[in-house]
Amino acid sequence: MITRKESEPGDDLFGRKIARQRREGTLDHAGLVSLAFLLLTAGHETTANMISLGVVGLLSHPEQLALIKADPGRTPMAVEEPLRYFSITDTVSSRLATDDAEIAGVSIKADEGVIVSGLSANWEPAVFENPAEPNEPSTHEEAS
Ligand code: HEM
Repeated sequence: MITRKESEPGDDLFGRKIARQRREGTLDHAGLVSLAFLLLTAGHETTANMISLGVVGLLSHPEQLALIKADPGRTPMAVEEPLRYFSITDTVSSRLATDDAEIAGVSIKADEGVIVSGLSANWEPAVFENPAEPNEPSTHEEAS
């Protein structure tokens, strides 16, 4: 796609970026491919799938949809709760410890790798009494 856009840049995000990089003499094919990959995976896949799953979540919990319709002030929860419930970016968070640390009784040494499960945190029974059920805003506030 980037190769095609380099020969036919249109008036879109990449077309305009390519045109600017040409003007400035900084055309960076590998960087543009990397940006396209990032937008597709981090940007598009997450958002498109989350919207679809959010719709599925509300349709399979009609009582929750009714609550939101009755009180549009709950709309932010229609975003937050599906993010918790489906935890679609579960596998992305890996880190390297810079210092020794202890988290929830688990000892982590400096230079050890850590893979954090967002799904596990989002479904933690000590935080969410019924993780498989829709949770109310107050539960989220306590969790944060
Ligand atoms: C429902 C939508 C989205 C979800 C659930 C989501 C989730 C996440 C999560 C959990 C992280 C942290 C990863 C980590 O700490 O290791 C992250 C990072 C990131 N996301 Fe998203 N994201 C979403 C939408 C987007 C969009 C629309 C973009 C860009 C257009 C984007 C770009 C990024 C980037 C660039 C990072 C890395 C940030 C950094 O340098 O640490 N994300 N996202």
